[in-house]
Amino acid sequence: MSNKMWGGRFATGPDAIMEEINASIGFDQRLFRQDIAGSIAHATMLAETGILTQEDRDAIVAGLNEVLAEIESGSFTFSRTLEDIHMNVESRLREKIGDAAGRLHTARSRNDQVATDFKLYVRDTIDTLVVQVHTLQLALVTKAEDEAQTIMPGFTHLQSAQPVTFGHHLLAYVEMLGRDAGRLLDARKRLNESPLGSAALAGTPYPINRERTAEQLGFDRPTANSLDAVSDRDFILETLAAASICAMHLSRFAEEMVIWSSAQFGFVRLSDKFTTGSSIMPQKRNPDAAELVRAKIGRILGALTSLLVVMKGLPLAYSKDMQEDKEVAFDALDALSLSLAAMTGMVGDMVPNRERMRVSAAAGFSTATDIADWLVRELNIPFRDAHHITGQIVALAEQKNCGLEGLTIEDFKFIDQRIDSRIHKVLTVEASVAARQSYGGTAPANVLIQAARWKTILTGEPHDPKPLQKKKHGGHGDGGVE
Ligand code: ARG
Repeated sequence: MSNKMWGGRFATGPDAIMEEINASIGFDQRLFRQDIAGSIAHATMLAETGILTQEDRDAIVAGLNEVLAEIESGSFTFSRTLEDIHMNVESRLREKIGDAAGRLHTARSRNDQVATDFKLYVRDTIDTLVVQVHTLQLALVTKAEDEAQTIMPGFTHLQSAQPVTFGHHLLAYVEMLGRDAGRLLDARKRLNESPLGSAALAGTPYPINRERTAEQLGFDRPTANSLDAVSDRDFILETLAAASICAMHLSRFAEEMVIWSSAQFGFVRLSDKFTTGSSIMPQKRNPDAAELVRAKIGRILGALTSLLVVMKGLPLAYSKDMQEDKEVAFDALDALSLSLAAMTGMVGDMVPNRERMRVSAAAGFSTATDIADWLVRELNIPFRDAHHITGQIVALAEQKNCGLEGLTIEDFKFIDQRIDSRIHKVLTVEASVAARQSYGGTAPANVLIQAARWKTILTGEPHDPKPLQKKKHGGHGDGGVE
């Protein structure tokens, strides 16, 4: 049997393999809401412009709403013979309202229809993802406030570099995620033009009103070139690019969680909620959720790559290749959404071991730069010379097998006579972080200011910085944070 939607010039139906390779209903059925919304807007406009009678329009809209209810309730039977969501919906509409259903497709094509549906879907998804990004940011900001005075090692090359605050480290991810949300919203802005009414590729002879369909669907305006409108997939490419960058950020954070939660680091503990045990090693607590978040970038970037390759050789306008856009995109956007949710859970769940972090922060002569800075500031020694003197001090500590704070004033004077006992003040990790008050620096006071700034942005309500705690958590520290 030839296809009942477009079978006029076909004597027989497709080969079974053809049907299998051609059908998209298996994955594009999730566009049903957007497809029906687009059809309602289109039918309404057709009636307003006199292309369709009000009676037919009303029958179409009522029928479409019934189809919507059927799909939502799960009673709708999707048919692969009907290829995609557009034809499944229209065919069911015909069963319900008869011939009037056949008038719905006046002045449009599946090419502008699918572009419209997919744009609406991506727009909705961006809105959800942005809320999820903001939720994760807020979880991080809240944690950062609690940990504004928690000192951990800051690394470069994963080697001890300078002490930083854990709050500052967490806020680094808040900045990244802020840019991620910005990129998604930026893609949304450019996406928001309606392809509907571009028809197959050349526009239509009917006196349609594309501004009206655009307006009904929440688009800013109709697209200005019909060829571009039906062959453009920039909107999903941009979204996947933004999603890939966001997933890369989540992956870096996940990697840090994996490292931090290892027995060797022991900086944080993840609860049973986001870890698994081992079937053979009873002591194990594996950070599986973090590892999976770390891995998701693979499929998200894969989707971007896949779609860029699909698009790169296509002549204008629509080609069936473009149907390959949806499956990978849905998978990638789902993966990002799940990763954001998992990260938000893990951030709330993660318990830092402040004692362990502090001890580790002091290892590896991490306050050596503070000595050099002191020599510059107090003794007016040029930085390059100060660097050299500090190198000798570190070597001495290494030789004596102690930390920098274990050196006596005689030790310091042995290296350079000009040094006096005030040097001891800068050797602690507390003093080191507290001193870094330059804008954007790691000082606890800065962390609290930045956390308040982000809270204000994310909640839309003004927040003042929380006051600094007088004593460091865990009862140690020498007041260097005051
Ligand atoms: N299922 C198709 C897709 O997702 C819809 C558009 C079909 N257009 C066509 N000319 N065959 O791309």
